[in-house]
Amino acid sequence: MKGIILAGGHGTRLRPLTHVQSKQLLPVYDKPMIYYPLSTLMLAGIREVLVISTPDALPSFRQLLGDGERWGMRFEFAEQDEPRGLADAFRIGREFVGGEPVCLILGDNLFYGSGLSGALQRAAEIQTGACVFAYPVRDPERYGVVELGADGRAVSLEEKPSAPRSNLAVAGLYFYGPEVVDIAHALTPSARGELEITDVNRVYLERQQLAVEVLGRGVAWLDAGTHESLLEASQFVHAVQARQGLLIASPEEVAFRMGFIDARQLAALADALPGTTYGRVLAELAARAAA
Ligand code: DAU
Repeated sequence: MKGIILAGGHGTRLRPLTHVQSKQLLPVYDKPMIYYPLSTLMLAGIREVLVISTPDALPSFRQLLGDGERWGMRFEFAEQDEPRGLADAFRIGREFVGGEPVCLILGDNLFYGSGLSGALQRAAEIQTGACVFAYPVRDPERYGVVELGADGRAVSLEEKPSAPRSNLAVAGLYFYGPEVVDIAHALTPSARGELEITDVNRVYLERQQLAVEVLGRGVAWLDAGTHESLLEASQFVHAVQARQGLLIASPEEVAFRMGFIDARQLAALADALPGTTYGRVLAELAARAAA
């Protein structure tokens, strides 16, 4: 399975922070925001990732992530010159997807919690059809909203409805079979002028090929699109890391745990981060594994 991180847009709600800096490169506590969705893809077992961002920001993403080899990954990069909508990712990524199943994650979506890796790895087994994740929220009108029937299957999907039919938001993490590329190419822009991911998901709903996994209490889903939610995300990561002495969403650690790199490679990555808690935690992990 291939992975796509959509990390474009203008970040208007985060100005002036985003005047000269891409939102998805802003810090969430101790690491750049994009590390979080990247780690989520890696936990799903995905090793080939396309990063899509604006022409201005793309060089910074290339500089930060490189070709991925040091993490046992392979990264490609592509420009989105205008924010035409989330489904535009499959138009831009057509060649990269190359007829394989694909997972799209939004560059400002953070997932953390118990049972997540298993749910991701199950979703990544998809060969055809779609699997999306729903999460109960207080303010569903801000999101794509899914309504489930008594059997747990989706019965309706709406993008930012003024009168939501449920409190279940569709998270910014979507698993699809390769046919998603053709579905995205056949879309027309919505009333707000975007190629909507909700319209893609509705095609799958009509085909009865839309699986919805509800994320439970044990999982935190945060988006970091406003100053308040960005601060909350940083506080959350700080609180958990300080208490447990571990790292949330370190690509180095995930690469090691997933077997993409070995303890010796992890130790070398830790050595490249001297004088930081981040590097120390990685070094301890490598040392424990080697002992
Ligand atoms: O966060 C989950 C929600 O994401 C879903 O529940 C909604 O169904 C989905 O439409 C989306 O809603 P948002 O209002 O969060 O979408 P937004 O336009 O803010 O875009 C999400 C991220 O994707 C944002 O960080 C910018 C980036 N983006 C957005 C567009 C439209 C791009 O990189 N390119 C784009 O063309």
